[in-house]
Amino acid sequence: MKIFLIGYMGSGKSKIGQKLSEMLGFNFIDLDAYIQDKEGMSISEFFTKRGEIYFRRKERDYIMELLDQDDVVIALGGGTPCYGDIMDVLVSEPDSTTIHLKTSIPQLVSRLWTERAKRPLIAHLSTQEELTEFIGKHLFERNVFYLKSEQSVVTNDKTIEDIAIELQSLLE
Ligand code: S3P
Repeated sequence: MKIFLIGYMGSGKSKIGQKLSEMLGFNFIDLDAYIQDKEGMSISEFFTKRGEIYFRRKERDYIMELLDQDDVVIALGGGTPCYGDIMDVLVSEPDSTTIHLKTSIPQLVSRLWTERAKRPLIAHLSTQEELTEFIGKHLFERNVFYLKSEQSVVTNDKTIEDIAIELQSLLE
């Protein structure tokens, strides 16, 4: 069984994925960390040195490579399902499920504001108002893909543990 966690930057995919994998006794793979290991550089360096278009190509190659895995929780990058045919491939993958972690814009802003330097798409934004506007527009475009997920969970005001328990019960 493969569980793909989908959602915007800051929606908690990595932390929730880690917790859920422990509860299920599954492996956990964070796609960004996997790419960083394989490429030998941080995501920010990757964007600077190779550009976003090349990153999106490699992101597709690596997620396809991971489809061989079993009993695994995979936290995607926020943009992974929003390019090419990736979301359709994931939804039609046998013995797997796609789960959308939905987080409100104010919560995303408060989580991402202090961490924006690590995220190349938002690192240049200089006020919380700009970040709010950016996320609003970006989510509007990306929700078309995120909403194709087979299941979804609202993460606002819940602990990592509570969300992982909720996900576990969705999977039963
Ligand atoms: C991105 C999200 C990031 C990372 C890259 C691009 C995006 O992953 O893949 O910075 O396009 O939303 P997280 O969602 O894990 O922050």
